[in-house]
Amino acid sequence: TPKSVSYICFIGAGYVGGSTAAVLANQCPHIQVTVVDKNAERTKAWQSENLPVAETGLLDIVKVPRDGLRPSQRKNLHFTTEVEESIQQAEIIIVSVNTPTKAVGTGSGYLLDSSVLEDVVMCIARSARSNKIVVEKSTVPVGTGETVRDILRNNAHTGVKFEVLSNPEFLAEGTAVQNLLQPDRVLIGCLETKSGFLAAETFASVYATWIPRERIITMNLFSSELSKLAANALLAQRISSINALSIICEATGADIQQVAKAVGSDSRIGPHMLRASFGFGGSCFKKDIRSLVYLCKCLHLDDVAAYWEAILNINEKQKSRSVARIVSRFNNNMNGKKIAILGFAFKENTGDTRESCAIDLVKGFLHEGASVSIYDPLVQESQIREDLGIDCAADGGLDNRLTICQSGEEACTGAHGVLVATNWDTFRSLDWDHVARVMTYPRIVFGSSACLDPNVLESMGFTVEIIGKKV
Ligand code: NAD
Ligand code: UGA
Repeated sequence: TPKSVSYICFIGAGYVGGSTAAVLANQCPHIQVTVVDKNAERTKAWQSENLPVAETGLLDIVKVPRDGLRPSQRKNLHFTTEVEESIQQAEIIIVSVNTPTKAVGTGSGYLLDSSVLEDVVMCIARSARSNKIVVEKSTVPVGTGETVRDILRNNAHTGVKFEVLSNPEFLAEGTAVQNLLQPDRVLIGCLETKSGFLAAETFASVYATWIPRERIITMNLFSSELSKLAANALLAQRISSINALSIICEATGADIQQVAKAVGSDSRIGPHMLRASFGFGGSCFKKDIRSLVYLCKCLHLDDVAAYWEAILNINEKQKSRSVARIVSRFNNNMNGKKIAILGFAFKENTGDTRESCAIDLVKGFLHEGASVSIYDPLVQESQIREDLGIDCAADGGLDNRLTICQSGEEACTGAHGVLVATNWDTFRSLDWDHVARVMTYPRIVFGSSACLDPNVLESMGFTVEIIGKKV
């Protein structure tokens, strides 16, 4: 029978570690949850009312609301930089550090860099004085479980035993709390041995506090590691498929929204992740698909690698052809033209700009000689400049053509065109009448029908360009 758990430690207080730990502490008041991060500033931010992660409902979970008084820190949730002590106290240690794409050396540009994770595992091996369950929550290359087991086995104190589990995370930014409270499934990969199954069962019993048992799926370690990459690849593949179809729509007069509805109504296909867009952004789709491509190449499966890589090629094409579509509206001459970009985050309801399409769209317009004004409700000016910065510095004139604004209306003032890059609700309800008055001919609005109603906008005097509608 599985042991009951009373102490869990997370290592890595980022989007995943911080949010998951908070929900776990909220759902399991009988468990002490400690989240270790090497970044003291981040740790402090988690203890403040200014959390490092902007997620709906997260603050109410990290802090306990108190009638008439300031909310106080949840008693069983601790953020700290004290790694050794936290490891020693915990029965389960969940590693949720970042695993970016490797920047140099073998596999650079493709392979996930698991060196931070390996350092943390080494630290666990050296610090632990009693048996532990070590959980890979970070997204890792397939086979990492084996490396983790080797490190632990070869560096453990005498008599200390480890079990390694894989428990990839499937939350999406902006809906993290909701996804963690009611996940479609929880995946636990384990070694197929008696002690492996027992460890998986012990960990599953923690999740079972609030998640129906049938949603907690157990499988072997490698299946679990691969399933994470596969899920992201398949989700991204749907977006690239619909975006590839949007190109056909623009050339033929079919409407991508209607096509998406038609295909999505087939219960075998389903309606999700079929919104045509400027492409997918975010920290994970690209890096995880590249990791899958790398794995295929290592296995000498070049045609399989090319199959997955095509998802990324379509995604890049969607951005460059979107810029070209607008530029052609200006007779391929953007000198003296101003484009407003509404939204800079990679999706609505988040301030995260990692791999945001807006970055490439803005760079594309600046490269064409246009001026660009940008507004996003959550992204700070310094972040936008950092994301675009290097190119601005390289080309002296660029910075003068870039303005960061405090509102959508301000960004559109004097603009010849406006592109809605992120489907924030606030852009749907923008005072478009006012925008029409402050913009300059030809008043082109470009975006997705998820956010813009072409009939209404055309009646206000805009020229409307919708992704996946005839040019
Ligand atoms: P993040 O960059 O937001 O957080 C990682 C944290 O780990 C940082 O706070 C960093 O300071 C900390 N860290 C790094 N090295 C450390 C060390 N040696 N000791 C202690 N702390 C250390 O990353 P994230 O977005 O939370 O992603 C974490 C993992 O989860 C990645 O593998 C990612 O692919 C995966 N993932 C992310 C999401 C998402 O929506 N962001 C969703 C599913 C899976
Ligand atoms: C994605 C997955 O949805 C999560 O399950 C996964 O855990 C996570 O990656 C991860 O591994 O990091 P996330 O990137 O936060 O989550 O956000 P999504 O909602 O999936 O959106 C990703 C991108 O695709 C955004 O740029 C979004 O605008 C775009 N998108 C989404 C479309 O263009 N069309 C759609 O129909 C849906």
